[in-house]
Amino acid sequence: MTDKGFTVQPADGGLIVLLPGLGAVSTTFIAGIHAIRKGLAAPVGSVTQMGTIRLGKRTEGRTPLIRDFVPIVPIENLSFAGWDLFEDDAYTAAQKAGVLEPALLDQVREELEAVRPMPAVFDRDFVKKLDGSYVKSGATKMDLADQLIEDIERSREASGAARAVMIWCGSTETFLAEAPVHRDLETFEAGLRNNSPDIAPSMIYAYAALKCGVPYANGAPNLSADIPALRELASANGVPVGGKDFKTGQTLMKTILAPGLKARMLGLSGWFSTNILGNRDGEVLDDPGSFKTKEESKLSVLEYILQPDMYPELYGDLYHKVRINYYPPRRDNKEGWDNIDIFGWLGYEMQIKVDFLCRDSILAAPLVLDLALFLDLASRAGLRGIQEWLSFFFKSPMSPPGVYPEHDLFIQRKKLTNTLRYLMGEEVISHLGEYTLETRETSD
Ligand SMILES: NC(=O)c1ccc[n+]([C@@H]2O[C@H](COP(=O)([O-])OP(=O)(O)OC[C@H]3O[C@@H](n4cnc5c(N)ncnc54)[C@H](O)[C@@H]3O)[C@@H](O)[C@H]2O)c1
Repeated sequence: MTDKGFTVQPADGGLIVLLPGLGAVSTTFIAGIHAIRKGLAAPVGSVTQMGTIRLGKRTEGRTPLIRDFVPIVPIENLSFAGWDLFEDDAYTAAQKAGVLEPALLDQVREELEAVRPMPAVFDRDFVKKLDGSYVKSGATKMDLADQLIEDIERSREASGAARAVMIWCGSTETFLAEAPVHRDLETFEAGLRNNSPDIAPSMIYAYAALKCGVPYANGAPNLSADIPALRELASANGVPVGGKDFKTGQTLMKTILAPGLKARMLGLSGWFSTNILGNRDGEVLDDPGSFKTKEESKLSVLEYILQPDMYPELYGDLYHKVRINYYPPRRDNKEGWDNIDIFGWLGYEMQIKVDFLCRDSILAAPLVLDLALFLDLASRAGLRGIQEWLSFFFKSPMSPPGVYPEHDLFIQRKKLTNTLRYLMGEEVISHLGEYTLETRETSD
């Protein structure tokens, strides 16, 4: 036990990563882990694998790798299972996604072919652009949840893993506002039994995971576990949760640039973001309902970083617009343009143009890995409910009621590293240097 009272259980035994949605992100993640294990590639973009953490004072020269500092499961001990409404195994799904080149996929073919999806809990009312037949049937949504619970237990047993985590990598569901059935666990469970139309498939997966004590994170922007009923279940069962929406691509750039402009007190009058993408995710987002869910997630970012109420002269009149255009020829290789209208000293105007030729799933895959390993760590450290220190990975971070979410990538990173220091009984770092008599947490 540390002097902060934390006991982090060792990372013994394997960890199975359960993936609702075996599409571009999931298969790029699984293929990547096998490629890394075989020494074919490096885990670029993964904080758990490549990141270091400074401990103590700069003069102490202690900067271990994060994976040597905190007890996380080595990637050799990961296994995978998933669900999809298409029956393709992970190899075929990866081929169709077209993210990784065939030469690389062929070197991990056997491992990918071994990951065959389980039938999905799916409802076309929530994803209009998809239609697959490989789906579960049940008289009620509670029946479907029970089937998922069986899947979870069976997968964990078959893999021999000691523990499991679930990361939603399924399609973005249509926009859904918080409804009365989401209010508390009792009402939600009644809603599952009565087939409430306000309970989306991603909520049924989250419910099943939390019932099994399996940590859950949502890589898409739909509400999923971010409702009072499921937050209540997470706390009651002592399970960590995180979400929403992997922070990749254009929003990653936004949360890197905006804090810098604000730090220098430069003004912003407009930020126009548009992008083209041609993968299945892009096709799903071509539906106005799914797009609205994504748009809300992308728009909230600047509002929280810039704090226009506090800086009305600089950010009070910002015009922020986000467009996503489905354009099949680009497949997973998204191109995102940002036009940023800024102003400086005496109000003189300037412009910044960003043209990011990114690869969506290449940016998302390491986040799946880091979230899986950190959620498992959180679980072994006895942390429960919303894990705000994992906001670093999300576009639309979950936060407790009454607390605004933190979007600034650098504050998020500090929160993450200080949480790791705290869990391991190290002093948190304030960066006050020689002016401080004792190191303590900063208030930002
Ligand atoms: N790639 C990124 O950079 C990125 C960033 C942020 C968020 N996301 C989100 O991550 C999710 C996955 O992205 P992707 O590019 O892999 O999309 P994808 O379309 O390639 O894969 C999603 C898969 O989920 C399946 N699916 C849909 N509903 C399901 C259900 N109810 N149960 C089981 N499977 C279901 C689909 O059939 C599909 O195979 C999307 O919601 C996307 O918006 C991706």
